[in-house]
Amino acid sequence: MRILFLCHSFNSLSQRLFVELGERGHEISVEFDINDAVAVEAVELFSPDIIVAPFLKRAIPQSIWESRICLVVHPGPAGDGGPSALDWAILNGQTEWGVTVLQAESGLDAGPVWAHRRFVMRDAPKSSLYRHEVTEAATQAVLEAIDRITQGAKPVSMQSLGAVPIWRDGMKQHSRAIDWARDDTETVLRKIASADGMPGVRDEMFGHEVYLFNAHSAKDLPESEPGAAIARSGGAIARATRDGAVWIGHVRKAGPKTIKLPATQVFAAEARNLPEMPGLDEIRYEEADAVGFLDFRFYNGAMGTETCQQLLAAWHEAVARPTRLIVLSGGPDHWSNGLNLNMIEAADSPADESWANINAMDDLAEAIIRTTGKIVVSAVGGNAGAGGVFLARAADAVWLRQGVILNPHYKDMGNLYGSEFWTYLLPRHAGADNAMRIAAARLPMGAREALSLGLADRIVEAGWAEFDETVRDMAISLANCPDIQSRLDEKARRRAADEAVKPLADYRAEELGRLRRNFYGFDPSYHVARHNFVYKVAKSRTPITIARHRATAQMMQARRKAAS
Ligand code: COA
Repeated sequence: MRILFLCHSFNSLSQRLFVELGERGHEISVEFDINDAVAVEAVELFSPDIIVAPFLKRAIPQSIWESRICLVVHPGPAGDGGPSALDWAILNGQTEWGVTVLQAESGLDAGPVWAHRRFVMRDAPKSSLYRHEVTEAATQAVLEAIDRITQGAKPVSMQSLGAVPIWRDGMKQHSRAIDWARDDTETVLRKIASADGMPGVRDEMFGHEVYLFNAHSAKDLPESEPGAAIARSGGAIARATRDGAVWIGHVRKAGPKTIKLPATQVFAAEARNLPEMPGLDEIRYEEADAVGFLDFRFYNGAMGTETCQQLLAAWHEAVARPTRLIVLSGGPDHWSNGLNLNMIEAADSPADESWANINAMDDLAEAIIRTTGKIVVSAVGGNAGAGGVFLARAADAVWLRQGVILNPHYKDMGNLYGSEFWTYLLPRHAGADNAMRIAAARLPMGAREALSLGLADRIVEAGWAEFDETVRDMAISLANCPDIQSRLDEKARRRAADEAVKPLADYRAEELGRLRRNFYGFDPSYHVARHNFVYKVAKSRTPITIARHRATAQMMQARRKAAS
């Protein structure tokens, strides 16, 4: 089928559906919901069989839904309606929730149902629920809906499903405002979870209006007046609640032109007066049966300069241990998304900070590549983008959870050249042809394609909840296999041979030479793209890489011009 995605942005769910439907042979093109006229034009140009709206904030124009089937993904069970479905579900403490694929009609979220799924709610931030439970349920439901359409089936009415329509308006800040004197720790956490990663809970800290993100319960901290800042740990600041305390990891000051950053960076002077206490462990290490598990979970997968340095220090400690294998486990939501673009944007000199950050990232990647005494596995259970993908590839083996989406490209960030030794790692693991194909593309990639291209070595057929356990068993069995020593010998031989052909230092110098131009040169594209990304500036048109109908139209226009 020819399927047009109409979406607010090409977000993680849209990318997952793009990959899944593409793998099933459907022809997909994407148009951002910029205005009705653009949407109508996209339908005329692509002439799709059906339209899918995985993530849409406005109604589909009537002329479109009258002309073909439009499937709308709603992150709520049948009957639920409104733009803050998941926010309300978390805030109201729902124990079960769902996803419904409706046919667009005149009423928002009110059309007949093509497919739906339910899932058990988890105690997690909204963005995490969206990336796992909602995305899995939505993927299954969209696939089922398309199967049913192909078979000539009809959608069913809400009534026949026994669903009672309930409309909930977009959630306003007052609905989740924290009353520090009254709310217990669990309520504070639930309110912040309902708003994470966007828009955050509006509150006050040190006399400033702020939005709070990335909250966790805090243990063993001194009691204080509810709401008071009582300690710091890494980037987080702890605040007392009436029955305990919470760590606030990230904060954005209210007002225009503000950036979500670690709380101790936003309130650097105030944080200096707080006692440093053990808090969130973003980096953890444990061992079992000759395997070291180096686990890192950075908010949004962003790895700033200091973060890379801390992970490198942990890496050196892990390497010094008497193990045969190290597993690099990134977070379940994002394995890594490369440089921390928010911190770069907030720096006095974004160019200098970009340079420091990429060097710290390269130090880490280089240390991983140069480790010959152990087999290294990247266990990628969460999505990865840009430099994060190549950091994973620095390991000997990349094990991908099924359903993970990779974005192995830098170009969308203002034609950034990228580093992390990608010019060495891609040909080495994927071969020259695939390396060129990967480097030229700008599209999201699923686990199967990554495996076929050599970006990954194994797909782990486990749900995200079982992924860590499955990886653990796989790693222990690999570390204890009889030929482990010959694998290690072969690894050392191969590294030495590669080094003799072209030293890693040369790859690094060449990549950084190109990046220096991106950071300090005349062309400001990277700085502009980063600024737009960090401030979430809405795109004024859909990139031609995904708006394939526009690429075709452009080509035809050029041909007509050439012919005349
Ligand atoms: N630095 C800082 N924040 C980042 C980030 C990065 N490198 N990558 C992602 N984020 C943040 C996003 O701003 C967003 O923030 P929010 O919590 O305020 O909403 C959150 O992580 C989720 O990212 P989002 O873009 O919504 O996820 P996605 O699944 O739709 O897209 C990517 C995934 C990887 C394609 C996209 O995040 C991206 O392009 N990231 C930048 C990658 C990059 O160029 N890195 C620098 C070069 S190494």
